[in-house]
Amino acid sequence: MTTGPWPLTAARDEHGALTIGGVPLPALAAGHGTPLWVVDEEDLRTRCRAYVAGFPGVEVTYASKAWCTVGLLQLVDQEGLKIDVASGGELYTALVAGIAPERLILHGNNKSEAELAQALDAGVGRIVVDSFEELDRLERLGAARGTTATVWLRITPGIDAHTHEYVRTGHDDAKFGFTLSLGLADEAFTRALALSHVEVVGVHAHIGSQIFGTDPFIANAEVMLDLLARWRAEHGVTLPELNLGGGMGIRYTHEDHPVEVRRYGKAVLETVAERCEALGYPEPQLFVEPGRAVVGPSTVTLYEVGTIKPLSGLTTWVSVDGGMSDNIRPALYDAEHEVTLANRTSQAEPQAVTVVGKHCESGDLVREHAPLPADLVVGDLLAVAATGAYTASMASNYNRLVRPGAVLVRDGEVRELVRRERFEDLVSHDIPLT
Ligand code: LLP
Repeated sequence: MTTGPWPLTAARDEHGALTIGGVPLPALAAGHGTPLWVVDEEDLRTRCRAYVAGFPGVEVTYASKAWCTVGLLQLVDQEGLKIDVASGGELYTALVAGIAPERLILHGNNKSEAELAQALDAGVGRIVVDSFEELDRLERLGAARGTTATVWLRITPGIDAHTHEYVRTGHDDAKFGFTLSLGLADEAFTRALALSHVEVVGVHAHIGSQIFGTDPFIANAEVMLDLLARWRAEHGVTLPELNLGGGMGIRYTHEDHPVEVRRYGKAVLETVAERCEALGYPEPQLFVEPGRAVVGPSTVTLYEVGTIKPLSGLTTWVSVDGGMSDNIRPALYDAEHEVTLANRTSQAEPQAVTVVGKHCESGDLVREHAPLPADLVVGDLLAVAATGAYTASMASNYNRLVRPGAVLVRDGEVRELVRRERFEDLVSHDIPLT
């Protein structure tokens, strides 16, 4: 199973069970329960390395919003990636994971004063300034502490990446950053230059997520380099750093054909070299910020089938023991994740069924029209592909389901990354009326 959306080590054992990291998924279900996130350590490390190798000289930074747990951040850090955090909670998690603060980058379109203070006090490497209010807050906080914040300005470059509306960020009318075409980027830079406790060392632009093809990334690099060159001409300041954001698409089903990291890296690096030469601008230190492409394909979610309801001439509904609380993506973005029978293989003809969760609404989809064997029975296990990014990190307790646990598997060994929640966790913040 080395092709398609499945993790690198996915294979079938002699009983037909799907194995990851040499561990049969039925054994994981028996030992850890379902639903369960199963992370293929080799896949994850291989992807980190592919990024580092595909972007020589570039600071590859993991966007931890994709999935932020202490163990995962430690693993990514071991592979030499920096880490971007987008809230006080993500920053806290990274610090608990023991990540050196100077290897952290803080994002967010509405960072609170408390989050900015937390970042300054921890000594994070870069803060990505998203608004005029934030410039003022940083100046005030820096003055109070006698420190200077080292920042990038987040630019909205006016690039429309053709991806789902909810994950587009680079177009003009966006909530993020300083809109270039409206002069906000220029105003932010001018204002920042006058501050004493904010030092701008670069610019940042993230144009969106799940992008296939290299053209939007190339356009982004060009727009940003043109901006740097113009600012040098207008202000006599040569900013040395450029962060081109994340956004590389991944394979969720066999129909998805993302660009290889190597090709993407080559396209970006060539563009930067050519444009810098044409502009006579010294090549800036580049940063990229992949989230999905690092962690997404490494993971499958394992579910157990609880009910099967064939409606003659209509849909066959297959319900599993999780759903929109552990993967909101199908409901929110019409996302499609490939599904396979995980505890056995079957010679039965595939039939299109709709796999749904156990939540009290019809939008609680796992996968519509999944081709699963006609002999599917209650108690079978299903694995859902490419669920490492934006599933656990967007999970909820809807219907008071406990959030699943996560395990890291490699060479037949299993390590727990996240403990499955317990009912006690569900009420641990509730305050009874006296
Ligand atoms: N940098 C910034 C500033 C971002 O906002 C993001 C993602 C990334 C990097 C990483 O992008 P990636 O390489 O993962 O595409 N929940 C949605 C995706 C939201 C992306 C948010 N920002 C989903 O499930 O598709």
